[in-house]
Amino acid sequence: VRHLLGIKDITEQDIQLIFETADQFKEVLNRPIKKVPSLRDVTIANVFFENSTRTRLSFELAEKRLSADVINFAASSSSVKKGETLLDTVNNILAMKVDMIVMRHSSPGAPHFLSRKINANIVNAGDGTHEHPTQALLDAFSIREKLGQVTGKKVAIIGDIMHSRVALSNIFALQKLGAEVAVCGPPTLLPKHIGELGVKIFWNVKEALQWCDVANVLRIQLERQTGKLFPSLREYAMYFGINRRMLDELNKEIVLMHPGPINRGVELTSDAADSPHSIILDQVENGVAIRMAVLYLLASRG
Ligand code: CP
Repeated sequence: VRHLLGIKDITEQDIQLIFETADQFKEVLNRPIKKVPSLRDVTIANVFFENSTRTRLSFELAEKRLSADVINFAASSSSVKKGETLLDTVNNILAMKVDMIVMRHSSPGAPHFLSRKINANIVNAGDGTHEHPTQALLDAFSIREKLGQVTGKKVAIIGDIMHSRVALSNIFALQKLGAEVAVCGPPTLLPKHIGELGVKIFWNVKEALQWCDVANVLRIQLERQTGKLFPSLREYAMYFGINRRMLDELNKEIVLMHPGPINRGVELTSDAADSPHSIILDQVENGVAIRMAVLYLLASRG
């Protein structure tokens, strides 16, 4: 495998190898000296055509912990603004002797398109509403860390499934690892054919919470919605928002996850997001080890 374009394209064995490699890097990250020489002489460009906090910084940190040389490109301050194409942009970056491209783009399939045109490893850091593979890997890795295994666990993905690349990559990853997956949200935010992916569907958030071991809560992606928002944010918060009382009243262990950024007061209240049920910041921590593992494994396969 030369690229990580999506979870759909990789096997359960690939995921387990990434997890075992991430376990080792997590140990490194807990040492006083967090750096290893594994990617010395490898140059990586983080090419972001969409905004990011966690993914971009986490990739950059992962690359630096592996001793790679790193350059960062943000479309918003680049010659893309003067009309330069995606392919020209990336070919110009590669002409500077760059080995790997980590790319986020608003168009589904953009990294797949590039993978057919260029001779460098590509890691998809999120392509529109399609996939966000490293997010799904760090999510499943965090469930494994918290609950011992992913196999047999019930995971409810709650929120704006329609516009979410996190949802699709999570469904693929969790099912490959043997979890039962459900989605929950208002009908306007669930894709019409989502049932064909073999997921259970809930329209009632309390029923979804009763059913699951893990609730992975997603935000409403306002930036991907056209026309009038239905339900409105206020209606969404009223019918699908999760608060601490709802979690406590379940009278069972439940793991609360969110890929970030959180719209506090919409999909999660602060007392839920910051509660002992939450592993949201563990997900962020694990993102660095997972991305180190992905970059290391891709670089070692050339
Ligand atoms: N989870 C995630 O992709 O966050 P960012 O958009 O901040 O990278």
